[in-house]
Amino acid sequence: MEKIDPSEITPEHLYLSRREFMAGAGALVAGVLLLPACKGGGQVAQNDFCTDAKAQSTADELGNKLTACKDITSYNNYYEFTTSKTGVAPLSKNFKTEPWTITIGGLVDHPRTYTVEELVNKFPPEERVYRLRCVETWSMVVPWLGFPLASLLNEVRPTSKAKFVRFETIMDPAQMPGQKDRSYDWPYVEGLRLDEAMHRLTILATGIYGKPLPPQDGAPIRLVVPWKYGFKYIKSIVKIDLVEEMPVSFWTKIIPSEYGFYANVNPAVSHPRWSQATERRIGELTRINTLPFNGYADEVAGLYAGMDLKENF
Ligand code: MTE
Repeated sequence: MEKIDPSEITPEHLYLSRREFMAGAGALVAGVLLLPACKGGGQVAQNDFCTDAKAQSTADELGNKLTACKDITSYNNYYEFTTSKTGVAPLSKNFKTEPWTITIGGLVDHPRTYTVEELVNKFPPEERVYRLRCVETWSMVVPWLGFPLASLLNEVRPTSKAKFVRFETIMDPAQMPGQKDRSYDWPYVEGLRLDEAMHRLTILATGIYGKPLPPQDGAPIRLVVPWKYGFKYIKSIVKIDLVEEMPVSFWTKIIPSEYGFYANVNPAVSHPRWSQATERRIGELTRINTLPFNGYADEVAGLYAGMDLKENF
């Protein structure tokens, strides 16, 4: 793959942030209220998935109500299809997710390939309502169906050398037009430290709103790590490897100064181009304060005891 200087690439959220900034500046001059470019406010069409979709819960543990199904399924980041958030759902609707296998290997005692059906039968999905905070400062409250990643790792048994888990998305440019864009280094890759991967909050999700994931949300299986920015939540996973060295994530490789390996939600550490202090919950108009570790600090802050979280962003 040809090497592209990261400075030549302008991911949509960087481009958008500049555009929003310009629009915001204009709106301020004009003295009118500007609605953020992120989704909400009737711009999203109803889709079939949501007609019979139903979660068991209505809110998260802090009392935040669920984001509407139609919003979760029609406003997406999935660069394998397009950089347009509302374009992902229509472009991915015929994406083939069956049959699907995930191969787990590397530094494990029992490497194995599973079908998604095998995983779902072995580890029955449970509903987990989690906040999702995107690095672009929008957020949602999502009723996932999934199972702890730890259940799977315990089965393949990481060896004592394994320090990190590396995840890879399917490579299929015939189905995913965005993968023909050679300015990105496909396939999408993400990683976690082994203790993060084993944490009880970390799940592999196979559904939302009581139904199997639709393609735009990462079908048939994706990662969910609720205290981290959304770009860690790698979609349509086909490969998981236990490794010794810290994996280089898709975004970290493109712009290492802006997207770190840890990507823990942290209102005190700004992105180089914007503040992370507040966020806009999709479907709501006013911004709310972003919580350290996305509100999961009691459970996960201990993983980073003694670490400088500004340096390890
Ligand atoms: N996974 C893959 N393979 N490709 C992507 O472009 N985008 C990430 C993450 N997982 C992405 C991905 C980003 S930036 C975010 S915010 C979330 O998916 C968005 O998940 P959602 O579309 O289900 O809300």
